Amino acid sequence: MTYLWLKAGHIIFVIFWMAGLFMLPRYFVYHQEAPEGSPENAVWTDREGKLLKIILWPSLVITWTLGLILGWTQGYFGQGWFHVKLALVLGLSAYHVWLAGYHKALARGERRLSGKRLRLLNEVPGIAAAVIVTMVVVRPF
Ligand code: HEM
Repeated sequence: MTYLWLKAGHIIFVIFWMAGLFMLPRYFVYHQEAPEGSPENAVWTDREGKLLKIILWPSLVITWTLGLILGWTQGYFGQGWFHVKLALVLGLSAYHVWLAGYHKALARGERRLSGKRLRLLNEVPGIAAAVIVTMVVVRPF
């Protein structure tokens, strides 16, 4: 019973986390179109900061915590599918940290990537999520 509640909580926060990971680069695309130092620029910086603080960081922490508790209590740490999942989730977490850094750089007025590159990058969490869900549900190895 506790296992099911933990799993439900895990999936709920996975959804919040993924939603944030999809939204933030979209915000960056619009943000970059605002001239440096403009009021619009400041509004986008504020929006991105709130998304990171209210949705993204808490969801990352809760998803990891519940996922690790589930993995530990169910004894999944020795299984191949769980290793692949962990590797991909570490990748997603690194992407999350990179996005947080890009947000700070944008606030300083740096525009490191083109809008097209940012849109392309948005495919990354989608592909990772598809493989992660396949791992936990199908458990191919
Ligand atoms: C952050 C680190 C994560 C850890 C340590 C972790 C670990 C786990 C564990 C141990 C389970 C229980 C599997 C079972 O008993 O059936 C689980 C379930 C699940 N996880 Fe994660 N997970 C993490 C992140 C994610 C992410 C990012 C996604 C999706 C993109 C995801 C999607 C799911 C789904 C859909 C289930 C339910 C599977 C089922 O009941 O059939 N998890 N996770």
